[in-house]
This record gives sequence, structure tokens and C-alpha cells, in this order.
Amino acid sequence: MTAKCVWITGASSGIGLALAERMMRDGWIVAGSARSEAALNDLAEKHEGRFFAYPLDVTHESAAVDTVARIREERGGLDMAVFAAGTHIPVEIEDFRRETFKSLIDINLMGVVNCLAAIVPGFIAARAGHVAVVSSVAGYGGLPTASAYGATKAALINMTEALKPDFDRNGVKLQLVCPGFVRTPLTDKNPFPMPFLMEPEDAAEAFYRGLQSDRFEISFPRVFAIMLRCLNALPYSLYFRFLKRGTGK
Ligand SMILES: NC(=O)c1ccc[n+]([C@@H]2O[C@H](COP(=O)([O-])OP(=O)(O)OC[C@H]3O[C@@H](n4cnc5c(N)ncnc54)[C@H](OP(=O)(O)O)[C@@H]3O)[C@@H](O)[C@H]2O)c1
Repeated sequence: MTAKCVWITGASSGIGLALAERMMRDGWIVAGSARSEAALNDLAEKHEGRFFAYPLDVTHESAAVDTVARIREERGGLDMAVFAAGTHIPVEIEDFRRETFKSLIDINLMGVVNCLAAIVPGFIAARAGHVAVVSSVAGYGGLPTASAYGATKAALINMTEALKPDFDRNGVKLQLVCPGFVRTPLTDKNPFPMPFLMEPEDAAEAFYRGLQSDRFEISFPRVFAIMLRCLNALPYSLYFRFLKRGTGK
């Protein structure tokens, strides 16, 4: 049996990298994308024959299309895509800048849209394939300093929910991934204590288990995700009171 191939964006670091390593251990071939070519080449050398470097800036629409075409041709097909490329810039009200929002929308939201546009036609035509969009529990509701990041992640949740029936009808599996806090270079910058902080390897394990399930949403740690879902179901007066108690803001 030939090994299955997964395209992972954000594969050079953090959650994407941990997932790539977990999936390779299970026999998957990984086509890994990120901007840092050197980091991807190091991974390709370390995991020779299992990890293949496809450097890409996800904000470049045509480059995403070219990357998918190259992966299909060079790897002999593509079975799954995981869109984990993303970044975070905290917003303090004293430094509220349009550029912060534009940059996060370009990477976190349009980056996923560009990659979807590149991959969806092939999957739909084949009536096969599997896509996982990485959002965040920060997309459930507004959190202090995450006005730009949270807005992009909320948009991804809404977009993925909206696409699900169309994907189902066309025989393509679509899942939404909402991690809580995971120790990565992205969260290393956070100046506050992070509740239920997970190690990337544990996050990758939960992520991979979720990919094998029929659940639409893969969230981890589950308890933290459920707590935030409940918080967001509260009336705003209570929501902001609990938020202040939890974050001091
Ligand atoms: N860590 C958490 O607690 C947490 C929680 C919820 C959701 N998430 C989400 O999980 C995903 C991965 O985050 P992480 O914590 O693993 O962060 P990370 O360690 O900083 O990794 C981010 C990855 O995205 C890539 N990337 C960033 N901008 C890119 C671009 N324009 N084009 C292509 N690749 C790009 C980075 O590589 P290059 O810089 O080389 O391009 C890197 O591989 C993100 O979508 C993040 O929002 C993380």
C-alpha cells in the first residue's frame, strides 16, 4: 500500500511541526510548508523520504496554487491538508494600528482561504480528500488583547461551519481545529500565566486522534474548550465579569 500524503502549512514550528512528526511516525508522507526554507530543508534531511519541503508564504495566492500542483505531481497525489500556518500579535489599546489587523487577516484568514482555493477543486473533482482548518478557542468570543487575532480565528470558525455542508455533499471531509494554549514560539511571547497549557507533542496526539474521528470540531484540552464555550454562552454582563476575574482586564 502506498503511504498517504498530507500537506501541512506551518510545518516548521509548534503545532504544525509536532503534528507532522506524529503523522510521520504513523507512516504518512508530509509535504510541509512555511516561509523558512532552511527550517523545512533541515526537516527534510532529518526525515529523509518522509518529509518534503514546499516553502510557501500563504499570503501569496498563486504560490499556493503552484505548491499544490507541485505536491500532487511530485508526491503522486494528496490525501489531506492541514492549515496550521498562523501568527499572533497582541493589541494594546494604546497601540491600536490598522496594520496589525491587516497583517493578521492576510496570514491567518486569507492564508487559509488561499490554500483552500488551491486545494478544493481537486478534492471536489475526486469526491475525496480531508481538510483541517486550524482556528483557536480565542475565536469563540472576544478576549482581552486578542482583538485582531481573535477576529481572524472567529472568521475561520464561521467560514468552516458555513463550508461544512458543501464539503459533505461533495464527499470531502472538513474539520475545524480549536486549540487552547500550547507551548510554542507563538505563546512563548505571552506575558501572562496560560491556563491548561499543553506541550506540543500532547497537542499533536489530540489533534491526530481528532483527525481520525468523525467529530467536526477538534478542540484540546477539551475541559478548557468546554469552559470557554460555556463562558461565551453567558449574558454579556456575566461574561465580562468572569473575564475580568480571570484576566484582570
Ligand atoms: N500555540 C497555541 O497556543 C495556539 C492556540 C490556538 C491556536 N493556535 C494556532 O495554531 C497554529 C500554529 O501555531 P503555533 O503555536 O504552532 O505557532 P508557531 O510555532 O509560531 O508556528 C507558526 C507556523 O506558521 C508558519 N507561518 C507563519 N506565517 C506564515 C506565512 N505567511 N506563510 C506560511 N507559513 C507561515 C511559521 O513558519 P514561518 O514563520 O517560517 O513562515 C510556523 O511554521 C496557528 O494558526 C495558531 O493561531 C495556536
